[in-house]
Amino acid sequence: MSAEAGTPVQTREIHLASRPVGRPAPDNFRLAQAELPELAEGQLLVKNQFMSVDPYMRGRMNDVKSYSAPFRLDAALDGGAVGEVIASRSDAHKVGDVVVHQLGWREHAVVDAAATTPVPGGLAPTSAFLGALGMTGLTAYAGLLKVAEFKEGDVVFVSGAAGAVGSMVGQIAKAMGASRVIGSAGSPEKVARLLELGFDSAFNYNDGPVLGQLQEAAGERGIDVYFDNVGGEHLEAALATLTVGGRVAMCGAIAQYNSTEPPAAPRNMAVAIGKQLTLRGFLVGGQRQHAAEFAEKMAGWLADGTISYDETIVDGLENAPQAFIDLLDGANTGKMLVRL
Ligand SMILES: NC(=O)c1ccc[n+]([C@@H]2O[C@H](COP(=O)([O-])OP(=O)(O)OC[C@H]3O[C@@H](n4cnc5c(N)ncnc54)[C@H](OP(=O)(O)O)[C@@H]3O)[C@@H](O)[C@H]2O)c1
Repeated sequence: MSAEAGTPVQTREIHLASRPVGRPAPDNFRLAQAELPELAEGQLLVKNQFMSVDPYMRGRMNDVKSYSAPFRLDAALDGGAVGEVIASRSDAHKVGDVVVHQLGWREHAVVDAAATTPVPGGLAPTSAFLGALGMTGLTAYAGLLKVAEFKEGDVVFVSGAAGAVGSMVGQIAKAMGASRVIGSAGSPEKVARLLELGFDSAFNYNDGPVLGQLQEAAGERGIDVYFDNVGGEHLEAALATLTVGGRVAMCGAIAQYNSTEPPAAPRNMAVAIGKQLTLRGFLVGGQRQHAAEFAEKMAGWLADGTISYDETIVDGLENAPQAFIDLLDGANTGKMLVRL
């Protein structure tokens, strides 16, 4: 029995059935029934409304030591989720509150209240707290402003530009006075969307080599900042196009997440010496000190229409594995979410 009358005792969750080799397939996942534990003192029962699927989860499906622990086989996956508190044994939260937490990939979660972030009412739909106002928004904000040390007048290039992080990077750069923002994405529809969002120039990396398209977009001036979501050929092209003293925020390398071979590019790392470039890798988890500043700024930009965000929403927990596979294949524009 659960702690509160009327609350469910069973839930559904997605388990990792086997570790993908290369591109994940539906049979790497399993839909499972699970018993909800009794609430301990300080815990909440949350009915999840949306869960996030994120590229970093692909790395956690491999059995390798990394910055976050690998997912366990035959156990529920986890990740960002937002939902409504339906039972509470914590003074910090009451029934009806909405919280963000890390027990996604399931319809209900028993979480420690201390491990949740409250969602303020009235600001934006709750889904936005997994995207523009959440982890991916903070990644964009901190990566551009704190890691790449963006300055007014910079020319900025961002890859994965139509995705959750990339679309925020480009719009934040414009809002902060970039002289030019260039984005790359994988389809003509995404390129058109980037221009609507205010990017000065955008190209489809499937149309031809990245280097030629980037150099055409950047012109003689080159780029001052590269926000790298992709790695590989994109990073090589950016290194070749950066100006002296240019800066790279190394955020992700999605071009290689499903690869079984080491990447062929970049082959031109040595240009970083002559151009005195700075390449800085970062994790959003190391940028939490900027969360309050980010939340205030982003709320303002969304409220006055400076920034807009896209979401691609898939319905149903049973479709979460396919949503994750489709994210890696580029089916999303903006944040990929599963509505539960
Ligand atoms: N460092 C951190 O703390 C941190 C935090 C969050 C995210 N990230 C990284 O940031 C990047 C973007 O994450 P996100 O959550 O915003 O995902 P996203 O960009 O919304 O979705 C992933 C996108 O990657 C693109 N993609 C897939 N394969 C590609 C390839 N071979 N070459 C170029 N693009 C490819 C697809 O768009 P196209 O149709 O354009 O190909 C897809 O839509 C990822 O690399 C992720 O790992 C890092």
